[in-house]
Amino acid sequence: MIELGGVSKSYGAVPALDGIDVTFGTGQVCMLLGPSGCGKSTLLKLVNRLLRPDAGTIRVDGRDIGELEPETLRRGMGYAIQGVGLFPHMKVAENIGIVPGILGWPRARIRDRVAELLELVGLPADYAAKYPREMSGGEAQRVGVARALAADPAILLMDEPFGALDPVNRQRLQQEFMGIQRRLRKTVVFVTHDIGEAVRMADKLVLMGKGTILTEGPPLEIAGRAELVAKAFLGSGFVLELLEKYTVLDHRHLLVPAEGCPPGTGRVEARTATLKDALSAMLLAGRDCVEVDLDGVPYRLRFEDLTRAFAGNTL
Ligand SMILES: Nc1ncnc2c1ncn2[C@@H]1O[C@H](COP(=O)(O)OP(=O)(O)OP(=O)(O)O)[C@@H](O)[C@H]1O
Ligand SMILES: [Mg+2]
Repeated sequence: MIELGGVSKSYGAVPALDGIDVTFGTGQVCMLLGPSGCGKSTLLKLVNRLLRPDAGTIRVDGRDIGELEPETLRRGMGYAIQGVGLFPHMKVAENIGIVPGILGWPRARIRDRVAELLELVGLPADYAAKYPREMSGGEAQRVGVARALAADPAILLMDEPFGALDPVNRQRLQQEFMGIQRRLRKTVVFVTHDIGEAVRMADKLVLMGKGTILTEGPPLEIAGRAELVAKAFLGSGFVLELLEKYTVLDHRHLLVPAEGCPPGTGRVEARTATLKDALSAMLLAGRDCVEVDLDGVPYRLRFEDLTRAFAGNTL
């Protein structure tokens, strides 16, 4: 668990963070969203001790990081730095292998790990011998992600790690990342400007304004709140992204018996269809309900139940 209490930080006369209180739970993915310059990168740098706070405390698993050796702290954290931050004079394999090297892993184990990670982030094995300047921005960014994951740290600080990727590779890496997360349950603080990415990956969303936290909570909870600032910032696309995050099965309490489906009603599978698929099926068929197949048993999802659940925050 990472806990920030009353944390403030200025760069000279420029305030960057003002009395931040926030907790990033163990094993959770916390997605940090906010306008450019609001202090997201500053927050990650403070957690990594690249910067020291002017006021307040930061605890990692109950220990004040101000009292830890920075190296000890950083060994347990993977940090994908915004804008990549690879060492230009080191080859890809050396960049990825930095922390395992510090930890004293045998060479063969580091080599195997580098190969495994290159495959994971979708880069050819011979990229191990390249220098950062010999790669595209998106390729270098993937090496940055591989480096953060290298020693399998319990904490991951990810600062817009997929920002330079094309949509196909971005989605692929999101999925790989979520696969890793389901298995390894790391404590993740992840900065993004992509609301879809934030909603898809978040256990908790943290919305920041200039140097402050506007609101935080699980995506569904935030959707149900009336904070105008949050809604204006997230935009209407947020709602559809949210409907895409959950299957109909996740919300089976909304289902009613199938009787009463008018002719021409669309049909979806509860286990595979998202709520967005269900809504799309209603729109396509021009009906205010959709038939739902749950393991061979027919049910019905009504538009009015979906809207009421959404408005009442009982999704
Ligand atoms: N080294 C620095 N010296 C002076 N001011 C800085 C420095 N780094 C950041 N700032 C300022 O602090 C504020 C917060 O910057 P920060 O990099 O944390 O923002 P951010 O939320 O990560 O933005 P972005 O989304 O653009 O990456 C900004 O006003 C920025 O101009
Ligand atoms: Mg930043």
